[in-house]
Amino acid sequence: MKNKRYSCWLALYVLSTGFLFAQKPVEGKATQLRTSLEPYFVAVEKNESFIKSNKEKIALGKRLFFDKQLSLGKGVSCNDCHDLQKYGTNGTYYLNQKNKENFYRDVPSVYNNLSYELFNVDGGVSNYAKKIQQAFTSQHEMGSNEDEIVTYLKESKVYKKEFKKAFPKQSKAILFKNVLEVMQKFMSELKTPAPIDAFITGDTNALTPIQIEGGILFVNRACYSCHTGSNFGGQMINKLGVEVPWPNQKDLGFYHLKKQVAYKMFFRVAPLRNVEKTAPYFHDATVVLLDKAIKLMGIHERGIQLKVVEIAKIKEFLKSFTGEIPKEYIKMNKSK
Ligand code: HEC
Ligand code: HEC
Repeated sequence: MKNKRYSCWLALYVLSTGFLFAQKPVEGKATQLRTSLEPYFVAVEKNESFIKSNKEKIALGKRLFFDKQLSLGKGVSCNDCHDLQKYGTNGTYYLNQKNKENFYRDVPSVYNNLSYELFNVDGGVSNYAKKIQQAFTSQHEMGSNEDEIVTYLKESKVYKKEFKKAFPKQSKAILFKNVLEVMQKFMSELKTPAPIDAFITGDTNALTPIQIEGGILFVNRACYSCHTGSNFGGQMINKLGVEVPWPNQKDLGFYHLKKQVAYKMFFRVAPLRNVEKTAPYFHDATVVLLDKAIKLMGIHERGIQLKVVEIAKIKEFLKSFTGEIPKEYIKMNKSK
């Protein structure tokens, strides 16, 4: 009897140490990864109190986001290009009709933009409010103007009511400035908290052991030196083709804005949140598979051939940036 109890304890001891030994390397690697990422990372979180105290403005911003009448030809809404159900992009590219060379530009996502330092594929805008204003007026987006928009809104009974609700203290609430304010408030809460956020804030199990290994590769292969911060990008511009020239040289990126030779082929380091879901990749939308995008980054940005198994692990890590789309944001109520 005594022996039996002893062996039971022994078995338990062996099992638990085995468990500890199996767990330990993961904990060690998790700590290593967390320590590398943490200094540049603020977890994406919903701001519930902001949402609560700006309910009417956010609802109005959402209505505007889905309204095709705000565009020049009345044929396209923000959501047609930045489809909120498709992680804020449209799975295709946008043809720049104005530029004679007709280069293509991928549509970037509108999720998690709040903490970007730079906006647009070429990083040409450095202020969120300014970017939202540009979205209404840019030839590449809504192509409209302040007067057209305000006139249209003033003629709408629904909007008259909605603006009054959102700005109860203003007698004349339908102003372009207010359009921009509600749009920014709506868009600033387009957030997709992901497993990587849970991991950084302490939940080691939020990532699989393979994802953790992929994360360490992401740091060691210097992906994180460009794709840094909470969005793994969006902080700076860099040359596409540092080591090996990018094959498509039609769109020269930041150079189109600041005509200095040094800026040729400079693009914003693409933010990687939800990257698993936002194909095609790169400014010219020329790559469809994420594996290939990772492989090309190794070649063009680092001058290295990543092994197939390294690519697979990095890809798994990138999947931990996929968050949940806020359901209440993606459907437009039909009342008009
Ligand atoms: C015809 C397609 C189209 C429409 C419509 C459109 N956009 Fe865009 N949007 C783009 C493209 C393309 C870019 C990138 C532009 C560039 O890099 O030059 C962009 C960039 C953005 C960005 C910057 C995202 C980032 O990653 O930096 C925001 C924010 C944005 N648009 C918001 C809006 C809003 C708000 C509306 C509606 C008022 C809108 N867009 C309408 C195509 C569109
Ligand atoms: C020298 C800076 C630099 C390094 C190092 C770098 N990248 Fe990039 N990365 C960029 C730039 C710039 C872009 C945007 C290019 C464009 O828009 O055409 C980009 C784009 C991407 C994209 C496409 C995202 C999208 O939505 O289009 C992926 C995926 C990516 N990088 C992954 C990686 C990985 C993985 C590594 C490490 C092996 C890495 N990058 C290393 C600068 C870098």
